[in-house]
Amino acid sequence: MEISIIGAGYVGLVTASCLAELGNNVICVDNDLKKVKKLKNQIIPIYEPGLEELVKKNIKRKRLHFSSDIKEAVDKTEVIFIAVGTPRNEDGDADLTGIEKVATQIAKNLRTYRLIVEKSTVPVETGEWVKRTININAPYQIDFDVASNPEFLREGSAIHDFMHPDRIVIGVESERAKNILLKIYKPIKAPILVTDIKSAELIKHASNSFLATKISFINAIANICERIGADVVKVAEGIGLDKRIGKDFLKAGAGYGGSCLPKDLDAFIKIAEKLNYNFELLKIVKKINEEQKKNIIKKLSESLWILKGKTIGILGLTFKPNTDDIRNAVSLDIISELIKEGVYIKAYDPQGMPKVRNIFKDLKLSLNPYEVAKDSDCLLIMTEWNEFKKLDFHRIKKLMKQPLIFDARNMFEPEIIKKHGFRYIGIGR
Ligand code: UDX
Repeated sequence: MEISIIGAGYVGLVTASCLAELGNNVICVDNDLKKVKKLKNQIIPIYEPGLEELVKKNIKRKRLHFSSDIKEAVDKTEVIFIAVGTPRNEDGDADLTGIEKVATQIAKNLRTYRLIVEKSTVPVETGEWVKRTININAPYQIDFDVASNPEFLREGSAIHDFMHPDRIVIGVESERAKNILLKIYKPIKAPILVTDIKSAELIKHASNSFLATKISFINAIANICERIGADVVKVAEGIGLDKRIGKDFLKAGAGYGGSCLPKDLDAFIKIAEKLNYNFELLKIVKKINEEQKKNIIKKLSESLWILKGKTIGILGLTFKPNTDDIRNAVSLDIISELIKEGVYIKAYDPQGMPKVRNIFKDLKLSLNPYEVAKDSDCLLIMTEWNEFKKLDFHRIKKLMKQPLIFDARNMFEPEIIKKHGFRYIGIGR
């Protein structure tokens, strides 16, 4: 099929390359001219495992093209996915300026039937607004459909998640739109749920909010574990073996970050407010997440006594492993707080350092974990990168000023770290 994707961010780029891989001809459009130029030259602006190969392979096969021209997309492709950013504005709402702009441009270039699909996470009723916007701006009355097809991919495993999803959700209003989307997703083996547009939009918000709830729940349990001397990892295993609960998203740690969970939670709380429903549960989920960050600082000062003048080495800066994304990464809040406390910080991350450099100009970024460990009073692990599993703790202990490891992602077995002669602090254990 002839498909276009508007927006070459994480979701747009992954969707475009995967749909091309499935045999479609795809145009990926972005208004950032520099980005488009880079992509045309096969330079991928983000780090996502497997993405570069997929983009290169499909450019070579002539199935994937990049453009900055929405007109070209509307002229040449029957299905147009909107995957532009919907950032959080000051009061927590999703900022839909990008969606409105794209919908207007699509409308102005509409000449024949097109299916316009929302892929970005958008508040319920955005579909209605997109339809209205197109009707107002189209040059004359033209048949078109709007659909919602929320994306559930996770950064770091985005290609796999796209190709092997747990489910595909399609929110449509016509048989024609439904059949087009069913045809696009035919090669993917996954249950397909067909709903109305509003339900599809809500599924995305409800899913991300539920995931955030699971994380805050286990972090609350971790706090109880710390107070009574139980091990949250074991508790999570014990509850997760119950199939009704499931073991995923029960890892206690520094709290959730990223471009989706925090933003979508805020947006959902706002949506509920506008609908006259006080979604208190989600407000508490958010509060627990914020407190989890404060707990890290509190535990650091309990272990190091006076923070001012101490050196803390941070391993891991991205909001999770296998990505270069630092949006809403908990590490950024921790760094800001520690700087305020007068702590000297050294940090290392396999992928996130260039982006962190743009935020903290004076931060000492190191070439490897050993440089971070050198003369540090504490080694604080903020992201559970696989690379850290292979660290030589014997060497690290010799380099540090005092042997203290704070594993804020519970990536190590405490006993193993202790055997190397370290004091170990984890979360809820
Ligand atoms: C999330 C959703 O998982 C995905 O379905 C949606 O499409 C986009 O938002 P993503 O933001 O890529 O994906 O990351 P995710 O894997 O969900 O992790 C989010 C945050 O939660 C990370 O900071 C991670 O460290 C944290 N987390 C995750 C935990 O603290 N504990 C867990 O058990 C799982």
